[in-house]
Amino acid sequence: MKFQTVCFFILVTTGFAEFPDGFLFPDDFLLGAATASYQIEGGWDADGKGDNIWDTLTHERPQYVDDHSSGDVADDSYHLYLEDVKLLKAMGAQWYRFSISWARILPEGHDNYVNQPGIDYYNNLINCLLDNGIEPMVTMYHWDLPQRLQDLGGWPNWVLATYSENYARVLFKNFGDRVKLWQTFNEPQTFMDGYCSDTGMAPSINAPGIGDYLTAHTVILAHANIYRLYEREFKQQQQGKVGIALNIQWCEPETSDDVDACDRYYQFNFGIFAHPILSEEGDYPSVENERVDNNSAQEGYTTSRLPKFTQEEVTFRKGTLDFMGHNFYTAVRGREGVRGGSPSRSRDSGMIRFLDPKWPGSASSWLRVVPWGFRNTLNRIAKEYGNPPVLVTENGFSDYGGLNDTYRVLYYTEHLKEMLKAIHEDGVNVIGYTAWSLVDNFEWLRGYTEKFGVYEVDFNDPSRPRTPKESAKVLTEIFKTRRIPDRFLD
Ligand SMILES: *[C@@H]1O[C@H](CO)[C@@H](O)[C@H](O)[C@H]1NC(C)=O
Ligand SMILES: *[C@@H]1O[C@H](CO)[C@@H](O)[C@H](O)[C@H]1NC(C)=O
Repeated sequence: MKFQTVCFFILVTTGFAEFPDGFLFPDDFLLGAATASYQIEGGWDADGKGDNIWDTLTHERPQYVDDHSSGDVADDSYHLYLEDVKLLKAMGAQWYRFSISWARILPEGHDNYVNQPGIDYYNNLINCLLDNGIEPMVTMYHWDLPQRLQDLGGWPNWVLATYSENYARVLFKNFGDRVKLWQTFNEPQTFMDGYCSDTGMAPSINAPGIGDYLTAHTVILAHANIYRLYEREFKQQQQGKVGIALNIQWCEPETSDDVDACDRYYQFNFGIFAHPILSEEGDYPSVENERVDNNSAQEGYTTSRLPKFTQEEVTFRKGTLDFMGHNFYTAVRGREGVRGGSPSRSRDSGMIRFLDPKWPGSASSWLRVVPWGFRNTLNRIAKEYGNPPVLVTENGFSDYGGLNDTYRVLYYTEHLKEMLKAIHEDGVNVIGYTAWSLVDNFEWLRGYTEKFGVYEVDFNDPSRPRTPKESAKVLTEIFKTRRIPDRFLD
């Protein structure tokens, strides 16, 4: 194995004033930033990489993306990863969460042929991070399924639970000596929607209320397969941890009669993954089982649209989690009622969600700024699942660009304060945080119109220069002083 040792960056550090008061991060708390392969790498056909479902969608149906753009070049991190490590080091990041492109490693999706340049790329990135004292966290799947596996039906096909395990074995074998933090999947709640509409996320398959549940089922089986694989073949030697990254928005009931509606929102979107893995029953939330079974029968289906686990699968899967990855952005309001076509997950959940116009907005239609929702959500996870270790793997704010990103700065400082209250005042076991995102990048169907980076990237310049925004400077100060600066305290 090649080890690259040329990338130790020496930085000029600036001193920060001591803030006697303020919110402190626990000593061993990890602070860092996050990205994902398709959103930053580019190099879409470089050095033997295979096509994935986002290559297909952006090339064949460019009109699905607001600015008709793609991740063909994106931040060009495939070539500029040393720049990214430099930014992380400048920020004082202790860890970096990035994802591996399945089709860069296994161009056909299968493990019979491994693309060595893909292995080399991630080895170089991982080694450079470690040379600079930054711990790598790898997400195995952040939405870029090899097209060849989509041709076989994609996530609704349960054989992908086995193919995912084979892919994971290649990753553990090649990188597990140095990578100790693994996440199997990022936000299955979001990418299952790729099977709910023919105008939506890749692969844009229109099978709501069916394709999404089948996807969830495969992902849960795949997650367990990967966790057990690690336990069986790698853990003793490599001593790493395996988790999953689940997102959920806080649901604030419209009235006191809407508490159950919000509870169902939570169970249909977070419990659907967390319950099978962490609950005593090891099954989907009972309210979800009952409602989908009932609706399916009424709609004339002989078999429930929500698949069932065998007892063997339940036993195999229960407790397959070393930490919970949690992505938090925003909140919704919820009330009792039925909305959505028949069939659909929305209709099954029997609740209506909407945005509160009083909550400050962002560039993203779905993203309102509700920092207290973060504390509530962290408390809910702790209470429902026995206070597992939680790594906050995404949290961030979108605007339309500009270096003076005042609202992003406020977003971060307010959310970090709520997280610290959850840790210090509520005893929630949060052990790390990565900001989304290190750099502006390809925001899926929004293309480059919405910016989430703390570093600005000039996408018109072929060399893709990165420039710190105000938020990068404030996060740098927070990462290095390990506290919220006094000027952001009430
Ligand atoms: C099943 O559906 C019927 C008709 O809508 C309803 O009356 C009943 O309460 C439902 N049962 C459950 C468990 O949701
Ligand atoms: C940044 O924007 C804020 C609010 O719009 C303003 O108060 C501040 O002066 C600006 N800072 C710079 C350096 O332009």
